Amino acid sequence: MSDIEGKSKKSKKTKNTANLFSPMNLRGLTVRNRIWMPPMDTYSATARDGKPTPFHYQHYVSRAMGGFGMIIAEATAVAPEGRISPCDVGLWNDDQVEAWRWIVDGVKATGAVAAVQLNHAGRKGSTGCFGVGFSGDSVPFEDGGWQTVAPSPIAYGHYAMPRALTVDEIHGIVAQFCDAAARAVAAGFQAIEIHAAHGYLISQFLDPLSNERTDEYGGDLAGRMRLLVEICDAIRSVIPDDMPLLVRISATDWAAGGWDLDQTVDVARTVKEHGVDLVDVSTGGIVPNVTIPVKPNYQVPFATQVRERAGVPVTAVGLITKPKQAAKIVAKGEADAVEIGRAALRDPFWPLRAAAKLGVPVAEAPYQPQYVRGAY
Ligand SMILES: Cc1cc2nc3c(=O)[nH]c(=O)nc-3n(C[C@H](O)[C@H](O)[C@H](O)COP(=O)(O)O)c2cc1C
Repeated sequence: MSDIEGKSKKSKKTKNTANLFSPMNLRGLTVRNRIWMPPMDTYSATARDGKPTPFHYQHYVSRAMGGFGMIIAEATAVAPEGRISPCDVGLWNDDQVEAWRWIVDGVKATGAVAAVQLNHAGRKGSTGCFGVGFSGDSVPFEDGGWQTVAPSPIAYGHYAMPRALTVDEIHGIVAQFCDAAARAVAAGFQAIEIHAAHGYLISQFLDPLSNERTDEYGGDLAGRMRLLVEICDAIRSVIPDDMPLLVRISATDWAAGGWDLDQTVDVARTVKEHGVDLVDVSTGGIVPNVTIPVKPNYQVPFATQVRERAGVPVTAVGLITKPKQAAKIVAKGEADAVEIGRAALRDPFWPLRAAAKLGVPVAEAPYQPQYVRGAY
């Protein structure tokens, strides 16, 4: 951590001409500002069919009306057994495409960008949630749980033991990400984020503490990142050239001998060569029972390091809750955009409030025209 703090001091010299409310270009897409909603699983596909519901419509469209530049829809499973919980949304069939479409249209109608995070949960799948019970535990088979899979038969904490994937099955998962991306395009999404963070399947492959394979998908960093690289290539081959591709990655697992910043920078450099336009930098979630020094901006120095060393645009996330705090991160060039997570759960209009607080004229704030008369 001292390394990170030391290097971040240097980065404070980096200037950025952008501010929180200036547009950002990613390939052929312009995002109206630098305040984005990160993916947050709502575990609310209550019919357990992976289809988003009217709840999801309200949840996402209200934040889009509240002025967020990009709305990144929650971890969306590429296969039923890739769900975190039985109530996760998905894009593994065409019915789900139809269910997403009106939500995507609703988000886009406000001027926000609709993005989706594609996920396979691997050994952290089949877990409970408020709609299912078994919160913080594996869901038993008789209650709708399933056999989880992973690079190696190593359980996450007290979760059920996963089964190691065969090479053919790994190829099948690459195809599932590719098909889900094609469905995301069909649903109208304008950007795709690959979930390679927080200890879900791709992250399990990256981290030597969860990947003990001796074949081409394990061993050195090139082997451990092979799954992610193949997924990037596969998705790039089915989405339009002008559509941005994002990767969310944990920059450290906060555990000795595991995943760290240097490997993250290597991965960021590599995926950039494979068509990735932005890295969404988070941390943790891979190894249980670690101590994370959670405080405002605690993940920002990691984002800055990835931005500077890999030369790729980044978003920062994690306890960014105040307008001035967010504005500083962008103005200093510590990140290209910020993501506001839990603060957006309690305040869908966070960006509009921030605009008022920062003195942005109403005409330049992301108001819906119908709401200007009620402006802050
Ligand atoms: C309820 C909830 C669900 C989350 N689900 C996801 C998810 O689906 N995918 C993901 O990458 N991160 C997920 N996260 C992490 C958030 O995207 C974000 O990184 C984290 O909350 C830190 O940002 P914050 O301090 O602004 O909330 C979730 C967080 C919360 C609170």
